[in-house]
Amino acid sequence: MMREEDKRTEASVSGLTAGKCVAEEMLSASAEQTRAWAAQLGHALEPGDVLALWGELGAGKTTFCQGLAQGLEIASWRRVVSPTFTLINEYTGRLPFYHFDFYRLEHPGELEELGFRDYFWGNGVCAVEWAERWPELLPERTQVITIEVVGDETRRLKRWSPCGRLNGEGAGD
Ligand SMILES: Nc1ncnc2c1ncn2[C@@H]1O[C@H](COP(=O)(O)OP(=O)(O)O)[C@@H](O)[C@H]1O
Ligand SMILES: [Mg+2]
Repeated sequence: MMREEDKRTEASVSGLTAGKCVAEEMLSASAEQTRAWAAQLGHALEPGDVLALWGELGAGKTTFCQGLAQGLEIASWRRVVSPTFTLINEYTGRLPFYHFDFYRLEHPGELEELGFRDYFWGNGVCAVEWAERWPELLPERTQVITIEVVGDETRRLKRWSPCGRLNGEGAGD
């Protein structure tokens, strides 16, 4: 039996998680734990990997991106903030890291102007906050991180990968 809570989550992320399966799940008790989990993932990321972050305001999407930046060996990971007004922030580490936020994106045309395909189909790593606003812009290989607020500092994190693929394999679309 599926919990009511899980059903709600499934419905609200359906555009993002369609065709994706939960590859990993953890219960985080603090921002530090979320960063550490994300850093582990960030350490294993490869050129062309795209991650979509899903969760309400204050869930921890940006905190997760700081962990990714740690794992990508970005020295200034503490300065990773939501690119709310710029749409994209770029960092250089072990790989280029492109941090997007679709929150204020009114029309995909704005992304076209940025040449977003060069990022999503490029040699860096992309993380996208509020990607559920325009899920159709993301490559099929996109992995999704859902962050559910369970308590003050407790979060349920899930990593969703395309079903039927081994973790981290088959990066090309
Ligand atoms: N377990 C946790 N994981 C992530 N963030 C947490 C956790 N517990 C508390 N927090 C706090 O919640 C806030 C999350 O903010 P932020 O990462 O900017 O969220 P979002 O980008 O989803 O709006 C931060 O202040 C962070 O310290
Ligand atoms: Mg944010």
